[in-house]
Amino acid sequence: MDKVVALCKRRGFIFQSSEIYGGLNGFWDYGPLGVELKRNVKEAWWRDMLTNHDEFSVPPGAPQAFSMAGLDCSIIMHPQIWKCSGHFDLFCDHMTDCRETKRRYRFDQIRGRWVEYPRATQDERLKKFATTRFFLITDVDSPEAGLEDTIQRARKFFGRQYEKELKWQSEGLVGLTRNDHLGHVLAPEASEPGTLTEPREFNLMFKTIVGALGGADDAAFLRPETAQGIFANFKNVVDTVRVRVPFGIVQIGKSFRNEITPRNFTFRSREFEQMELEFFCHPKESREWYTYWRDRRYQWYLNLGLKRERLRLRDHDKDELSHYSVGTADIEYGFPFLDAGEFGELEGVAHRGDFDLRSHMDGKLARDSEGNLAVELGPDGKPRHAGSGKDLSYFDDQARERFVPHVIEPSAGADRATLAFICEAYTEDQQPDEKGDMQTRVLMKFHPRLAPIKAAVLPLVKKDGMPELGLELYRALKAAGIPSYFDQQGAIGKRYRRQDEIGTPWCLTIDGQSMQDKTVTLRDRDTLEQSRVPVSEVVDEIARRLRS
Ligand code: GAP
Repeated sequence: MDKVVALCKRRGFIFQSSEIYGGLNGFWDYGPLGVELKRNVKEAWWRDMLTNHDEFSVPPGAPQAFSMAGLDCSIIMHPQIWKCSGHFDLFCDHMTDCRETKRRYRFDQIRGRWVEYPRATQDERLKKFATTRFFLITDVDSPEAGLEDTIQRARKFFGRQYEKELKWQSEGLVGLTRNDHLGHVLAPEASEPGTLTEPREFNLMFKTIVGALGGADDAAFLRPETAQGIFANFKNVVDTVRVRVPFGIVQIGKSFRNEITPRNFTFRSREFEQMELEFFCHPKESREWYTYWRDRRYQWYLNLGLKRERLRLRDHDKDELSHYSVGTADIEYGFPFLDAGEFGELEGVAHRGDFDLRSHMDGKLARDSEGNLAVELGPDGKPRHAGSGKDLSYFDDQARERFVPHVIEPSAGADRATLAFICEAYTEDQQPDEKGDMQTRVLMKFHPRLAPIKAAVLPLVKKDGMPELGLELYRALKAAGIPSYFDQQGAIGKRYRRQDEIGTPWCLTIDGQSMQDKTVTLRDRDTLEQSRVPVSEVVDEIARRLRS
C-alpha cells in the first residue's frame, strides 16, 4: 500500500488536502491524473446506467425492460428530509475517548487481546488495580502491528520478569463489547488501564447554518448520502419524464460524513463521492430486481478489471442490516491495506422496501414488536418526525393499481472504486534496460477505458521531421476526443517507463521508418508487443481498441 500511496503522490493522482498547512485528516485532492481517472470511473458508471441504457430491450438477466433517468440534487436539503430518513436519529457511531492520551476511537473498531496476570506474584505497582484481567488494545491506527504490538505493551506494563506468567486469553485480536468493563482496558500509549470514557453516540452528519440569522431553526446538514435527493424528487420525475415502474433514477455527487476515524488513504474520508441508483419496482417483483442489480453491479467491477479473486459478493447477516433494509449484499474488495483474507466495502446493494417513500409521505418509520414498519410516535401520540404529507404512491394505469414502489439501491463510492482500480492496476515486473540489465518496471494496468491518458505520441529524436509528424498525430487524436500526451524529452526507454507508471495503454513512436512509409510503432503497455500501424489509421485503431 505504501508504494501505491507514494506513486499516487509522485505522479499526481491523489494529494493530501491542504497539504501546505499540514493537511486535514479525512480530506483528499485529486491531482491532474487522478481527476481524469475518477472522471472515467464515474463516466463508466453513468454510461452503463444511463447513456447506453436501452429502455426498449431486456438486458441479460433482467425480469423485463425498464427506463432510467438522472438527477443532480442539492447537497443541502430541508432538515426534515434527514429526520424522516432516520439519519437525524440513527446515523451515529459510538466513540470513546482516552482521558490520558486525548485520542478518540470508534468503539466498534477497537481490537485487542485479553491477558490475565497471576495476582500471587504481582508487585506493589500492580496491586492498586483491582483486576487480574486486562484488555490490551492494539493501536487502532496501525492494526497490522497486531500481536507483536500487544506483546511489547504487555512487557512494558507488567514488566519483563512476569512475561512468562501472563496468560493470553484469546488467540487472535478481538473487539470489545458494551458489557466489558472499561476499567480493565489499557488504551494505546496510556500508562494505566481504565482511561477510556463510556462510548457515546456521535451523529456523523456535518451541521451548517443556512442564512444570516443563524438561529436554531436555520440549522441544516450536508447530505450524508445522495439517495434522499432522489426520493424527494420521485414524484417530480414520474410527472415530468416518460417513465413507468419499474424504472431507476441515478445520481453522482458529493456526500459528507464526519467519520470519527478516517483512514486507509481515501477509503474512509469525510468528503467523498457516491454513485447511487434508486430502482423503483412493484413490491411483488422486488426480490427478482434485487438479485438482478446485485449480480449486475458485481459484474461491472469485473468488466473494468478487478480480479475475481479479490472481489466478493457478501450477503449481510440479519443483525448487520441498516435500519431500513430487508436485505443487503456488499460488493467487497481485498484492498492491500487489509490483512490477508479481509475485504473492504466498495458498494452496498440494498433492498430498501418502501421505507423511504413511506417515511417521506407519513413521517419517520420504526419497526413495531412484530417487526412491521409503522410511523414512529412521540410521547404525545403524534408522529415524532412528520413526513411531507405528499402522496408518493404510484398509479399503474395499465394494471389499474395504486401502490408504493419498493426500492432496490446499489450505492457505490466513486472514491473507493477509484482506489480499488488503482490498487488492482499497480504492477511490478522485470524488464531489461538499454544495457540489457534487468530492472523493475512499475506499471499501472488500468483498463484502457479508465486510463487517464490513452495514447502517448513519442518522436524518437527531436529532428528529421519526427516532432512535426508526432504533433500532427497528437492533434488528430485530440480532435477525435482521445486523451493523449506528446513527449519528446529524454531517452525513449525513460519515456516508455513514465507512461507505464501512469497507466497509458499505448505508446506511438515516430522513428526513421515513419518518415519514409508513414507508419508508427504501436507499443502495448502490458504485453510490450510492438506493431506498425499506418499514421492515417492510428486514430481509428485506438478508438477501436477503446471500444473492445
Ligand atoms: N444510500 C446508502 C448509503 O449511503 P453506505 O453503505 O453508507 O450506503 C454507500 O454508502 C457507499 O458509499 C459505500 O459502499 C462506500 O463505497 C461509499 N462510502 C460510504 N462512506 C464513505 C466514506 N467515509 N469514505 C469513502 N466512501 C464512503
